[in-house]
Amino acid sequence: MKKVTIQTLRQMKSCGERITMLTAYDATFARLFDEAGVDALLVGDSLGMVVQGQESTLPVTVDEVIYHCRAVKRGTRRAHVIADMPFMSYQASVDEAVKNAGRLVAEGGAEAVKLEGGADFAEVISKITRAGIPVMGHIGLTPQAVHRMGGYVVQGKDEEKARQLVDDALALEAAGCYSIVLEGIPMELATEITRRLEIPTIGIGAGVHCDGQVLVCYDLLGLNPDFAPKFVKRFADGAGTVMGAAKSYIDEVRGATFPADEHSFHSKTLRLYPTPVRAAESHPVLVEEDSIARIYAAPV
Ligand code: KIV
Repeated sequence: MKKVTIQTLRQMKSCGERITMLTAYDATFARLFDEAGVDALLVGDSLGMVVQGQESTLPVTVDEVIYHCRAVKRGTRRAHVIADMPFMSYQASVDEAVKNAGRLVAEGGAEAVKLEGGADFAEVISKITRAGIPVMGHIGLTPQAVHRMGGYVVQGKDEEKARQLVDDALALEAAGCYSIVLEGIPMELATEITRRLEIPTIGIGAGVHCDGQVLVCYDLLGLNPDFAPKFVKRFADGAGTVMGAAKSYIDEVRGATFPADEHSFHSKTLRLYPTPVRAAESHPVLVEEDSIARIYAAPV
């Protein structure tokens, strides 16, 4: 088991080995994805939508990403862990951006940060990188710019916008990014950007010719039946599995078939006393002498 680093990802690109990345927000899912062999885990600001139920990623705070990142780190042994820089944690000033990136690493345990935006963020990226923090870029459909884009719409469809995105990608590489997420752009454009860059591209809604792919784990698992954009493939019927389990639990509790005997504790030394306690008059009190379970009479 060798830890995945930014150098590993670079090598994977040069060997033509595809990079796999998933989002994760807690230790349990992080452990499962890590053990399954995923190369990188992103504590995405998508947590605002899939975990918190917000309408966009905009309300997510640095403290919240730190909280989730700590949990993900506890569940991860091999995968490279990246923390998203939330909206307004890097846009207002370079100093603030460096401080917030530092918090995600020092307090959250992230091994790199990701931020959305093109050439305009070259200075921010180079200052964060110079502070010793690897930066993953993110261009194309950038959810934090939802209001400027007029919705979650595919970017770079005309020649001028496509050229702009190629220039952005080159500027991010020159500024020191070790990898770039390409989201919601035509496959042809993603292929061209991937060909032009030495650093790996990670696609989401950008076709198969990126150096790697990322998916929001709740989408991968099919946990939200109402969300079915073109770029998502559900690799499991998570919603069906979760609801099926919850319904079976409800039925069994109501039918008194759960907990069964094998889910119950037993004692050979248990004695039943008629209780002198007024509040429990109609119930005998169970007194357990030697077991971990002690059941006392309710106080009057
Ligand atoms: O926040 C997120 O989950 C992301 C990925 C979709 C790339 O930015």
